[in-house]
Amino acid sequence: MTLTDLNQRFAIGNHVQFKEITDGMIIAEVANQHAIANIALQGAHIATFQPRGEEPVIWLSPHAKFAQGKSIRGGVPVCWPWFGPHKTDSKLPGHGFARTVPWEVFETKALPDGSTFLRFGLIESGVTRAQWPHPSTVQLEVTVGRALRVELVTHNAGGAAFELGEALHTYFQISDVAKTTIRGLDNCAYLDKVQDFARFTQQDGIVIDSEVDRVYINTAADCVIEDKGLKRAIRIAKQGSMSTVVWNPWTEKADKMGDFGEEGHRGMVCVESGNMMDNVVVLAPGEMHKLVAVYSVEKL
Ligand code: BG6
Repeated sequence: MTLTDLNQRFAIGNHVQFKEITDGMIIAEVANQHAIANIALQGAHIATFQPRGEEPVIWLSPHAKFAQGKSIRGGVPVCWPWFGPHKTDSKLPGHGFARTVPWEVFETKALPDGSTFLRFGLIESGVTRAQWPHPSTVQLEVTVGRALRVELVTHNAGGAAFELGEALHTYFQISDVAKTTIRGLDNCAYLDKVQDFARFTQQDGIVIDSEVDRVYINTAADCVIEDKGLKRAIRIAKQGSMSTVVWNPWTEKADKMGDFGEEGHRGMVCVESGNMMDNVVVLAPGEMHKLVAVYSVEKL
């Protein structure tokens, strides 16, 4: 669909319009009474979210590249239909292909409370089918209000069951890692990727002072990012998710990635709601699975 078609069919005055920001990269620009947000059609990737009168809730690297087929550093990458490396084929992209392929807009709506609702669907192609032979659909529903609500809905449209790994790989903006504690995972078991997937149990809140890359399993709990610098907490409430990933690459890895910027890792932390490793979802033919995350700001 061309930019003109998109705006004719889906733009809503005082809520959403579509813009081309670089060659072929179209974003939905959402602005309503509660918040502003930008969503790239590639990957249905929420790049920014900022409630009015607040600092941004979502972190976007100042060096993020908006380019076809490339993942955007920051925002809410959609990891689907697997998380991390592919189980059997190391040539396939980490975290699946959903975040780097085009999605289409299915629906936009102004809600009675002044929020904006948008629904996107991944466009199947030869490229996606070659990597994922299971007939299935995946949609992302986004509600931009005072809070940001994200729903990732997968449907098995084929005749055989499949295993699904997924995550909303959300980057949150914080004042500084040194002033931040992540709560909600006390007593949870986790696999520590920095220590070759060794298993540990979380004691107390998480303080980040070196590389952290952990998959917490069997947890449906809310998480809260307490930020003493911004005097706020970001609440991450979720449904349909039994894993939470906490990630900060720290200096050396961030430098190697090339799109974090100098000391960029100090101003972000990823708290990812999903299902992976022990918690992959098995979807029988005809079944639907919904992963929901809601991000809101509380005073500290
Ligand atoms: C996290 C993983 O979810 O994503 C990390 O646990 C990984 O191991 C990180 O480095 C970033 O991945 P990518 O592919 O976006 O650079």
